[in-house]
Amino acid sequence: MGNCLDSSAKVDTAQSCLGTSASGTSKNSSKTSSSSAAPSTLTISSYSEKSNGSSLPTPRTEGEILSSPNLNPFSFIELRNATRNFRPDSLLGEGGFGYVFKGWINETTFTAAKPGSGMVVAVKKLKPEGFQGHKEWLTEVNYLGQLYHPNLVKLIGYCLEGENRLLVYEFMPKGSLENHLFRRGPQPLSWGIRMKVAIGAARGLKFLHEAESQVIYRDFKASNILLDAEFNAKLSDFGLAKAGPTGDRTHVSTQVMGTQGYAAPEYVATGRLTAKSDVYSFGVVLLELLSGRRAVDKTKVGVEQNLVDWTKPYLGDKRKLFRIMDTKLEGQYPQKSAYTAATLALQCLSPESKQRPTMSTVLATLEQLDAPKTAARISQSEQQGVPLHHHRSPMRHHRSPLNLTPSASPLPSHRSSACVH
Ligand SMILES: Nc1ncnc2c1ncn2[C@@H]1O[C@H](COP(=O)(O)OP(=O)(O)OP(=O)(O)O)[C@@H](O)[C@H]1O
Ligand SMILES: [Mg+2]
Repeated sequence: MGNCLDSSAKVDTAQSCLGTSASGTSKNSSKTSSSSAAPSTLTISSYSEKSNGSSLPTPRTEGEILSSPNLNPFSFIELRNATRNFRPDSLLGEGGFGYVFKGWINETTFTAAKPGSGMVVAVKKLKPEGFQGHKEWLTEVNYLGQLYHPNLVKLIGYCLEGENRLLVYEFMPKGSLENHLFRRGPQPLSWGIRMKVAIGAARGLKFLHEAESQVIYRDFKASNILLDAEFNAKLSDFGLAKAGPTGDRTHVSTQVMGTQGYAAPEYVATGRLTAKSDVYSFGVVLLELLSGRRAVDKTKVGVEQNLVDWTKPYLGDKRKLFRIMDTKLEGQYPQKSAYTAATLALQCLSPESKQRPTMSTVLATLEQLDAPKTAARISQSEQQGVPLHHHRSPMRHHRSPLNLTPSASPLPSHRSSACVH
């Protein structure tokens, strides 16, 4: 879901629109409305496909959104059973807006299944809140009910019953990128895996930006990048997603929403949103992948609190780049690729939005890196216990004088949900 703690979610009904170019298969066309509350008057503009194939903006009512043939409406009891009464040991994580539980459902009947049988799902249960949380919830149902891509998390269904709002997603076994990069415990991600994740996430954003009707994601950050068993990245949380400008418009004007440290400066300053705002956020996540540091880290002192401010002077300098690279990589990365990725991040972070590359260019640049080869070599050498001699930085034993404190200090659970306002 969106992640703004002190500001309201806003669905701009005047300018929202949604592409129907994405193809998807209908999972469940026989619908019951028993789990849905009476549709409200809230509408979200969208494109609805006409029989002649042309697309015209048509407002989608809540009833229309909820009756998407691609989504299954669940009853609360069914999801309670599927998660064994939302048992604490089923808890996968907590965000600003709710708790996520692991559950099991029968993939044909969509009824609760025994743990270990049927399909594994992730059930997000929103904390009780007001109307604005509902808007974000509905925005997510609207987008994920229509957009399909291997790099977007799949929404299986939802539950709307009284005050209860839940979302049922495909289960992503490796959790979020945030957990892997910043939490102690899991094996540090290798360079090859980091680039694989960057490429997957870039594909997801490119798809949104190039949809027949552009979608601006608005909440690109490490905690919203989920990983499957093979570290394929999928974007989650579409509560803040927004239709891109149409016609001659260059931007959409909107209330500033997003996460501190990731949101583009011109968007924060003016509320003018473009796809290039997402490109900026992508640059921040690329920096997180390179450095293993959070976008904002209040445990650091001075300029190091803000990842962009701290790293910028080093990104375009081949000889100094090692100073901001994640020490958990232990120097095992191809220096040339790291430099290319760093200069790409720098371009994404251009203060002038027009100078930022498109996601298509970003993706092409990342795909040219020798990441897959590197990943193969790393896993081979990991299996054999052989160090990657030619990938070592000559300075791998030196820590930057700017990098003296641990980089993985956990922050409060909702620290990444601070609102830019
Ligand atoms: N589909 C999923 N499969 C597996 N784990 C998931 C899934 N969705 C969410 N999670 C886990 O639950 C955690 C919480 O997700 P959630 O989207 O509620 O919050 P967040 O992204 O961390 O923060 P925010 O509230 O700012 O979005 C994630 O970090 C992830 O570890
Ligand atoms: Mg999230």
